[in-house]
Amino acid sequence: MNTLLLATDDSLLKEALTISFEDVALRIIVASTLRDAIIQVPLADCIVSEHLLPDGSANALFDKAKGRPFILMVDQASLKHGIVAMRRGAFNCLTKPIDHKELIRSITRAFDGIKTDSTSLEMIGQSEPLERLRHQIKRVAPLDTTILISGESGTGKELVAKDIHQKSKRFGLEMISVNCAAIPDSLVEAELFGHVKGAFTNAITDRSGLIEAAHNSTLFLDKIDELSLATQSGLLRVLQEGEVRRVGSTERTYVNVRLIAATQRNLLEMVSKGSFREDLYYQLNVIELTCPTLKDRGNDVLLLANAFLKHSKQTMDRPKLSFSKESLVAMRDHPWPGNIRELKNAIERAVILSDGPDICPPDLGLKQSQAKQHFIGNEQRQSNEQRPTMSLENYFQHFVLSHQEQLSETELAKRLGISRKSLWERRNRLGIPKHRDGDLLE
Ligand SMILES: Nc1ncnc2c1ncn2[C@@H]1O[C@H](COP(=O)(O)OP(=O)(O)OP(=O)(O)O)[C@@H](O)[C@H]1O
Ligand SMILES: [Mg+2]
Repeated sequence: MNTLLLATDDSLLKEALTISFEDVALRIIVASTLRDAIIQVPLADCIVSEHLLPDGSANALFDKAKGRPFILMVDQASLKHGIVAMRRGAFNCLTKPIDHKELIRSITRAFDGIKTDSTSLEMIGQSEPLERLRHQIKRVAPLDTTILISGESGTGKELVAKDIHQKSKRFGLEMISVNCAAIPDSLVEAELFGHVKGAFTNAITDRSGLIEAAHNSTLFLDKIDELSLATQSGLLRVLQEGEVRRVGSTERTYVNVRLIAATQRNLLEMVSKGSFREDLYYQLNVIELTCPTLKDRGNDVLLLANAFLKHSKQTMDRPKLSFSKESLVAMRDHPWPGNIRELKNAIERAVILSDGPDICPPDLGLKQSQAKQHFIGNEQRQSNEQRPTMSLENYFQHFVLSHQEQLSETELAKRLGISRKSLWERRNRLGIPKHRDGDLLE
């Protein structure tokens, strides 16, 4: 739900706006002083403020608004302040006495603008766990603290990281995202910290790493649990001292980086097994945000399904498709082990496969993934007779399960003829857990 911050000591105005937006999902928070308004800025998506509040001018509030649409209300006498504010990027300036209709139109346009600007980033859903997450994001985004995002595969951890960056004061610079599982162990240190010429065979020149690239911005380390213990110590130095040492160098460079890390695994458990540094865990875990599973998001499944359908209909030029009642029920009742990513893929597939005009349950292919889940839930093995054919996926599953005790992840990937990243992704998609002891040996 969008939130409007109204900074005014005019109680009539608040009432008028509350009535006007009665039918629209809009939360209005009111601040009657500048101090109150500044405190509440992180909660707001759009701000409407008097030019003069009892304890100061709205300039200070505007400075804190950081890109949020800002509508200023001024007296005729102070119109010039309004013009300056518009030049500095305020969304609109209205003169008093305020025409309520005009103000409402302006607020509506401001919110429309937010929607169209951020469609690719928009976090869809209204369930309680998602609202709680949104609230936490608004709280922590403007701070510089390190954040750990946890949650199952496909629950939106990366989307949350992007949203935090977008709402932070670093939003003007690009966020640097690194998928730690996608970079081979032997290269990850050089990628993150950079290297000097001659540090290893292929190091033909000095090169800065991704941490330096994130200077003054946000570094998003996805699958942080994949980092080796050596790389973890380097990262700890970055967090504690802001210090980067390129591989092969004794010199230090200093960086100002805000770190957001994500994991699907229980890091504390990894700490107790010795595969994750305890000091790094506590350094990361200043604030932990958890992305709820789709199963726990109630009706969000249908909201998301509709949004994905709308998008896929447009991109695949199938404007007339809609969900049959049975497919809505099927989606609501499905356990969604792959969470939002699974839902998004199921709908894309349905839009391609459906003969229309309705998308029916078989188009979504849900039964199949339920069966798959059952298969995996049965602790890995089912007899060959139960498997009608050896599909590629079954072969993959069988191969990984029967070799993972002897082979490292890199060797497994090599034997399957795929990259470590693909191995990791398929493990996730098919829900094949890693062999824990094997993990520690890696
Ligand atoms: N609340 C949401 N609203 C709309 N789309 C979402 C939402 N959450 C996630 N998505 C979409 O679902 C897909 C998976 O999200 P994302 O990649 O952020 O998940 P993840 O938790 O990082 O997954 P993994 O653990 O596999 O890396 C993306 O396409 C993302 O845009
Ligand atoms: Mg991710």
